[in-house]
Amino acid sequence: MAHHLPRYVDTLIIGNGPSALILSYILHGHIPYYVGGHHDALLDLKLTKKPNLLDLTPDLYDHFLSSLRYSTQALPVNTLLDTLIRPNADTELNPQSCIEWRYEPDKAVPHLAVGATSQPGGQWGENPVSVSAEIGTLSYAEMLSLPGYSYSEYMGKSKKQEQCDFVRPSRTEVANYLKMYPETVGISDAIHTGVKVDNVSRTVDGFIVGSLGIRCKHLVLASGIFTVNIPPPPLLLPIADIDSAHEPLLVIGSGFSAADTIISAPPTRKIIHIFQWAPDTRPSPLRGCHHTAYPEYATVYRQMKLAAIASTKALSIRSSMLRRKSNPFFSSRDWTSHYEGLPNAEILSVSRLEGAPSVTATIRLASGNTVTRLVGGLEYVVGRRGSLDYLSPELRSEILGTALEEVSSSTLISGRTLRAKTESSLEVARNIFVIGSLAGDSLIRHAVGGCAFAAGHILGKIASNFSPSSTPAPTPTPSTRSPSPSARSDRISTSPSPSASTASSPMLLAANGHADLHLDRRKLARAVEVTNAENRCWQDSGWWAGGLGPLKPPDA
Ligand SMILES: Cc1cc2nc3c(=O)[nH]c(=O)nc-3n(C[C@H](O)[C@H](O)[C@H](O)COP(=O)(O)OP(=O)(O)OC[C@H]3O[C@@H](n4cnc5c(N)ncnc54)[C@H](O)[C@@H]3O)c2cc1C
Ligand SMILES: *[C@@H]1O[C@H](CO)[C@@H](O)[C@H](O)[C@H]1NC(C)=O
Repeated sequence: MAHHLPRYVDTLIIGNGPSALILSYILHGHIPYYVGGHHDALLDLKLTKKPNLLDLTPDLYDHFLSSLRYSTQALPVNTLLDTLIRPNADTELNPQSCIEWRYEPDKAVPHLAVGATSQPGGQWGENPVSVSAEIGTLSYAEMLSLPGYSYSEYMGKSKKQEQCDFVRPSRTEVANYLKMYPETVGISDAIHTGVKVDNVSRTVDGFIVGSLGIRCKHLVLASGIFTVNIPPPPLLLPIADIDSAHEPLLVIGSGFSAADTIISAPPTRKIIHIFQWAPDTRPSPLRGCHHTAYPEYATVYRQMKLAAIASTKALSIRSSMLRRKSNPFFSSRDWTSHYEGLPNAEILSVSRLEGAPSVTATIRLASGNTVTRLVGGLEYVVGRRGSLDYLSPELRSEILGTALEEVSSSTLISGRTLRAKTESSLEVARNIFVIGSLAGDSLIRHAVGGCAFAAGHILGKIASNFSPSSTPAPTPTPSTRSPSPSARSDRISTSPSPSASTASSPMLLAANGHADLHLDRRKLARAVEVTNAENRCWQDSGWWAGGLGPLKPPDA
């Protein structure tokens, strides 16, 4: 309840998801220090001189863009903290972190993290799409850990002794881990749940949250990009509120959420699946999912592919393809009689007889033919977005770089909306920072860098881009997303291989040379396959941007 909240804090964090929790951990006085041992000799040299990782300056990572080793879509600060926490994560099992979190309570900053969900953990604590909470996460357990209390420590505590490596925990388990986190690391005094922030505006010396009456000096937006389900168009509204389990379920969408709803439907429920199919220009996010790492997604993708092939050719390739690569998820459902995939189909009309439990949908197929289907329910799962409507139009204008007259309410925010800005700084307007998925990198493992950056500014370690007295004016958003000048192609380096720098780094030899002896090579090969599958699945999917697909953003 709002009356438990103080009237003034230095820093207000909006959201209570993983990024808000990490920032609160830091602002409680847990400061990350580089303790040596990274295989990148240049980075090691730079950080050894300046080990406090809240003192993040671009010179630390400006060699990343020219190095193939750091080929990732994440922002450089996020790549930096990730590679320090999990050096060699792609080739090594449980690599030793190069970061130590030291508790220095004199550096603590009074702050609050306020989120709408009923438990800490942000979108993990909600389930807006009707999918089974037992579905495995895309990330493997070791990629989901927050500082100070790792996921494997949580597993130990919750008496589930199974190995954490190679485990894709269920959503419920991750939600529970995040719920326990504040209490366990001692930050729960600052984490508030069940409170919606609204009507935030700038004052002469900071900000005020109109809906709660709280004032603050720094504002951190950690509200994510997954709060709003893109709603179905008006045409489909007659189906939206029917629920007749005897008639087929209509699923519309091409990505993970669509696959999740299909997997979650009872095995006997008939499914009609309408999806976009453009493998060359906009492949489904599911395409990159390897069949051993993600059998359920690979299964759905194969059904979609079969349907797409069948829609253009009338050949009976079906049975031979169906037999290939079968996995437990494949046999959990009679796909031939219970799944009908309609690639690039379009619903022309729906009609419902007065009082009838189902509707009749008229659908135009990719071939141009028109068919009708009885439908007993709808899952419209084409993506989720965030919203910044809790900010005043003036603040939205400042942050989005649009003229005040053009700021509309109910702007949907994807991972790409603020990306051009965050590539130059996560301080998107004077004393306003964005962290987490809102900043454009949605994986938990990529949240730490942005949090360290914001904390560095809040603690005054890094100077603001904005002069303290400047009247905020809408900063035009750069129209191109070209990488910084240091990414010149002639500098794509043949940087020293990890093994070469290992030799020059005694600490790494001590720490990892030993572990190497005990490494099960078979497991290592599997770990690499699995991590690569995760990365590919995630990067190809565009899911990091809210499921926008890998290529051209539709809003470009
Ligand atoms: C279905 C799904 C599966 C995913 N799987 C993975 C995975 O396997 N691995 C991985 O690393 N990442 C995964 N992600 C990505 C996800 O972005 C991160 O896991 C993580 O949740 C990002 O954290 P965040 O702090 O940015 O914000 P979120 O977790 O998105 O939390 C932001 C919170 O802010 C709240 N909020 C928004 N506006 C307000 C307001 N005005 N007032 C109060 N509260 C507000 C929202 O209610 C929300 O709970 C997945 C995402 C989805 C949607
Ligand atoms: C928003 O907050 C401001 C500042 O507290 C207040 O003056 C204003 O009335 C609020 N507006 C709404 C619509 O609540």
